[in-house]
Amino acid sequence: MLPSRWIKVVSFLRVGSCIAVLAQEDSLQASIIDRSTLDGKLFVGYQAWFRKPFEDNGNSHWTTSLSDPGLTLIHYVVGVDMVPNITGYPEECLFDTSFTLPDGKPAQFYTNDCEWVVDLHFSMMANYGISGAFIQRFYGYINEANGGWVNILNYAKTAAEKYGRGFVIEYDLNGAATGSTNVTDTFLADLEALSSITSSPAYMHQNGKPVLEIWGLGIVTEVTVDDGIAIVTALKNAGWYVILGVQQAWHAELAADQPGGFGPVYKLAHMIQPWTVGSYDVNNYDEFHDGRQAIEDRNALQQLGLESSIVVWPGGSSSNANPSEVFDHFPRWNGTFYQKQLDGAISLKPNFIFGAMFDEVNEGTAIFPVLRNRELPTNQRFLGIDDDMEPDIYLKKAGDAASKLAAAWQGD
Ligand SMILES: *[C@@H]1O[C@H](CO)[C@@H](O)[C@H](O)[C@H]1NC(C)=O
Ligand SMILES: *[C@@H]1O[C@H](CO)[C@@H](O)[C@H](O)[C@H]1NC(C)=O
Ligand SMILES: *[C@@H]1O[C@H](CO)[C@@H](O)[C@H](O)[C@H]1NC(C)=O
Repeated sequence: MLPSRWIKVVSFLRVGSCIAVLAQEDSLQASIIDRSTLDGKLFVGYQAWFRKPFEDNGNSHWTTSLSDPGLTLIHYVVGVDMVPNITGYPEECLFDTSFTLPDGKPAQFYTNDCEWVVDLHFSMMANYGISGAFIQRFYGYINEANGGWVNILNYAKTAAEKYGRGFVIEYDLNGAATGSTNVTDTFLADLEALSSITSSPAYMHQNGKPVLEIWGLGIVTEVTVDDGIAIVTALKNAGWYVILGVQQAWHAELAADQPGGFGPVYKLAHMIQPWTVGSYDVNNYDEFHDGRQAIEDRNALQQLGLESSIVVWPGGSSSNANPSEVFDHFPRWNGTFYQKQLDGAISLKPNFIFGAMFDEVNEGTAIFPVLRNRELPTNQRFLGIDDDMEPDIYLKKAGDAASKLAAAWQGD
């Protein structure tokens, strides 16, 4: 299962002598990504919000309730549609659930505040040739009392360094509101507090600046246009390379130049990343790609002189977290939907591809190994991948796309 690249990284890390270092030099060089540029790479979004529920009141998306009196993950509060395949996870990072596997044993979930979970996830990225991760940092949890998220960021930093990957902090604006908080101030103070993390050699740079992404300007409507301008301006002045994760039809908003529109904010970004999760399905993706992605986005970006990132996602289902949602809303079609998007993105040669998401089992967009249909618990409806698929199929596809995009950039 493990491609030799991963084994070489591990053997290097475990052998201390100079001779071993020299002998491994070539493979090590190949296995450490260049952190000075995003160009020609594929990064995944990493939610890292799957902590053991009911324990520390931390952000947990295994469940939609943080106050279950029975301290079990019972059906009506389950927050995920897919079940992780926990092969390779250390036992100390797992816990039993009330979901029964076909062999009668309880299904186990992992807790993200266990360092070895984050370590394993980054080893998977290295293993399959994925460049690294954009670690989500949720506005509403920036000042979390027990520091849980900062621990996870530190684990990610350590793992990215260990496995030769890159990482970036991505603020998710959910929870921010111009009326009740100074968002700029919060970001600047947070970045100051996180300087030991962003100074890591594994932290990604672009055009000489450390990279930061802000997701949700124009999507999280509680943050105004004026505030958006203040936030992006301040972060740029502080030396950051700023990527904005924006609504899929951002260029229409820009072109219309309507009062109250976010056009003036988009123009300030260094890079635009339209959020396309849920914007098309397998039937109308080609149309979307040929029209909106290839023509409208490209024209708008060229006009503004901005760099670009394209989002890809394997499918989606979030019916357990949101009972009004259709189960298997965006079917994966056994990987063909994902492959179409990866090929489409490579053909447009963006600066980098963003894989949404590495681990998001709550919205059914996870690409890490999850259970197949026949392996699923029998006492709750979950979505599996096809029985004849390998559990790592989506990691392989993402890694293959990373190599192809890198080759396209090297061809210049
Ligand atoms: C999980 O993944 C492993 C490794 O690919 C595989 O051998 C196993 O069959 C999968 N399913 C379960 C239920 O562990
Ligand atoms: C918000 O904080 C920034 C940075 O500290 C400051 O420059 C700005 O004036 C503040 N905005 C308001 C409305 O207080
Ligand atoms: C492929 O995927 C679709 C939808 O995700 C599913 O309905 C179908 O049964 C799968 N299997 C094959 C062999 O097509």
